Amino acid sequence: MEGEYQPVTLNSLKDCFKDLAFDLYLLMPTGKYLKAFEKTTGLDFARLATYEAKGVKHFYVRQEDFPLLDEHLSRSPMLTLMNASNPFEKRKKAFLAVMEQSLFEAFSAGTPTQQTVTRAFDALRFSLQSDKDFLETLKLLLEVCPRNDEFLKHSIGTAIYSYIVANLNGLTSERSLKIILFAAFFHDIGRLKLPEDRRLAHQNKSIEEIVEFRRHPNLTLETFSHSFPFADEEIRTTILQHKERLDGKGYPNGVKGPAVFSLARILAIGDSLSELTLGMEDGHIYSKAQAIAHMLADEGHYDKKILSTFAQLILQSSKAA
Ligand SMILES: [Fe+2]
Repeated sequence: MEGEYQPVTLNSLKDCFKDLAFDLYLLMPTGKYLKAFEKTTGLDFARLATYEAKGVKHFYVRQEDFPLLDEHLSRSPMLTLMNASNPFEKRKKAFLAVMEQSLFEAFSAGTPTQQTVTRAFDALRFSLQSDKDFLETLKLLLEVCPRNDEFLKHSIGTAIYSYIVANLNGLTSERSLKIILFAAFFHDIGRLKLPEDRRLAHQNKSIEEIVEFRRHPNLTLETFSHSFPFADEEIRTTILQHKERLDGKGYPNGVKGPAVFSLARILAIGDSLSELTLGMEDGHIYSKAQAIAHMLADEGHYDKKILSTFAQLILQSSKAA
């Protein structure tokens, strides 16, 4: 029985596409093989992360499927993405695979590993280098998100909006866009250190709870402190200050005016629009137009110049829709 199966490491499956041409099995303590992923449905990264959290290191493949496994492992999305001679559509699919897997891993495990961070960062880097339709790709990623995972949707939504805000404000250098996208994707990961029923602002009622909640940007940085593969102060500052307000009434440090970093001002706008439209801010789900109106009325919060061009665009597109 043993010889009919070949082990494949869970880690190597992370760098694969989701579609499978074979079934994957788990080896149970009883010695029996139990089907974990079926070829008809393919890999599910959320479930893969759950298995990893439980300590699973290997899956097994039937003997007759060995050649298919080899073929599967040779088609790495990251390698596909990096190869500039691949057609755009192929690279786009590869980008989705890398980012989706990275985000699931980051959000399921709570603590992204160095590998996750590096992979997500590389994916952004390679995409920005050559994909003119990068925004289109991010939108596609939003489509593939599981509908019930608000945080995942929020990460991606924040990245899309922040990317648009940055572009509208002439911030088009690859470096700035990378910082914005990376900070946006991971800015709220620290919230996962809070109890499950207190991860949204309106769920925190007592002074102690509110004070603790307002440390979530610090928690994100703490979560990342061992994983950041680059000593980039700008990414850290962008994340740390995304809840600061220009009038100094924000958190966690109440920094004011010029002390609020330019990229954090952009992330603050992308973050707010995403939170309001997902009902994460006060429990009410705003339309995009309502959210923008709410933000424009919030005197002293945002950089008015940055917000106004974005507001126009969103309001125009809402009218057109
Ligand atoms: Fe957020």
